[in-house]
Amino acid sequence: MTILAIETSCDETSAAVVRDGRILSNAVSSQIALHAEYGGVVPELAAREHLKNLPLVVRTALGDAEIAVGQLDAVAATLGPGLPMALMVGLKAAQSLAFARRKPFIGVNHHEAHLYSPWISGNPPAADFSGFLPNISLIVSGGHTMLVLVKSELKHRVLGSTVDDAAGECFDKTGKLMGLAYPAGPEIDRLAEQGNPKAFDFPRPLLHDAGDDFSFSGLKTSVRYFLRDNPALLEDAQKIRDLCASIQAAIVEVLVAKTIRAAKRNGVRCVTMSGGVSCNRALRRQLALVCEKNGFSLHLAPQSFCTDNAAMIGILAERKLAQKIPATGYDEDIQPGWELA
Ligand code: KG4
Ligand code: ZN
Repeated sequence: MTILAIETSCDETSAAVVRDGRILSNAVSSQIALHAEYGGVVPELAAREHLKNLPLVVRTALGDAEIAVGQLDAVAATLGPGLPMALMVGLKAAQSLAFARRKPFIGVNHHEAHLYSPWISGNPPAADFSGFLPNISLIVSGGHTMLVLVKSELKHRVLGSTVDDAAGECFDKTGKLMGLAYPAGPEIDRLAEQGNPKAFDFPRPLLHDAGDDFSFSGLKTSVRYFLRDNPALLEDAQKIRDLCASIQAAIVEVLVAKTIRAAKRNGVRCVTMSGGVSCNRALRRQLALVCEKNGFSLHLAPQSFCTDNAAMIGILAERKLAQKIPATGYDEDIQPGWELA
């Protein structure tokens, strides 16, 4: 089974070719530089950029995989959630290609695909995922922060999500307050490596709340007021590193503690994590440490598959086909607000 997958839900234009659980290629064209000058993703610009780059990205994915269009058994794309016009570009391209070749089209939920990205690291990849199930999966990105109980393949339940800002948004917005460029997450990660995480004490929102929801807007506000009252800190490079380490420590502590608590409460032995923020080194280290201490096996997506990519869309589409889930209509519309249930 050879599948071409397309992902254009936000600011990465990506196409991948997947065959029998293996990723033959995964081409990603990032728009970060384009949006950086606006301090965030501009939806109209994102859609135009996808339109411009998608033909090249698809050609690259097919070329890298040494696969001709005629060899494809199916085409997949993200239906949602995401930016409406951005989703539209990838979806219509994928449906048109599938229709023209009379091949099945598979529409995929972006978050559900993130759930499967930690499995695609093995080489050779796991023949089936049963050894890793059930698990608790933390999806942590610029737009979302959620804890999901994956009971079995394609069967999951969202336990909790953020009630306001996502963790990545908190990295990006507190970084902006410190004068860092968008997206600030990777830069905070880098600066924090030489900072003192105990230098400043920021709140850990909902850390002791028994539920599985997250909240990060209070932490952002707390940083805002702290910087308003201590503006001189931003003139000292070491103090900026300490600030980064302290903010990061607050975010990481909440994410790790709530993930482990959910894993214990649901009696699973396995934890996974994906999404852009899961690139964060302190988060990866801390989660690994706590998982080891508590006897959980931990599966992380490789960094290149943490951020948005079409490989995870293709892997999920293949599992859906293998489980005989009916193909999606060639005229199925985008579902921008399609949240996981
Ligand atoms: O999954 P993603 O590529 O896009 C979506 O938001 O769907 O995630 C992007 C987010 C941004 O907020 C970015 O700052 C954050 O992931 N991020 C990081 C790191 N790398 C990316 N945050 C903290 N540390 C990192 N190393
Ligand atoms: Zn994503």
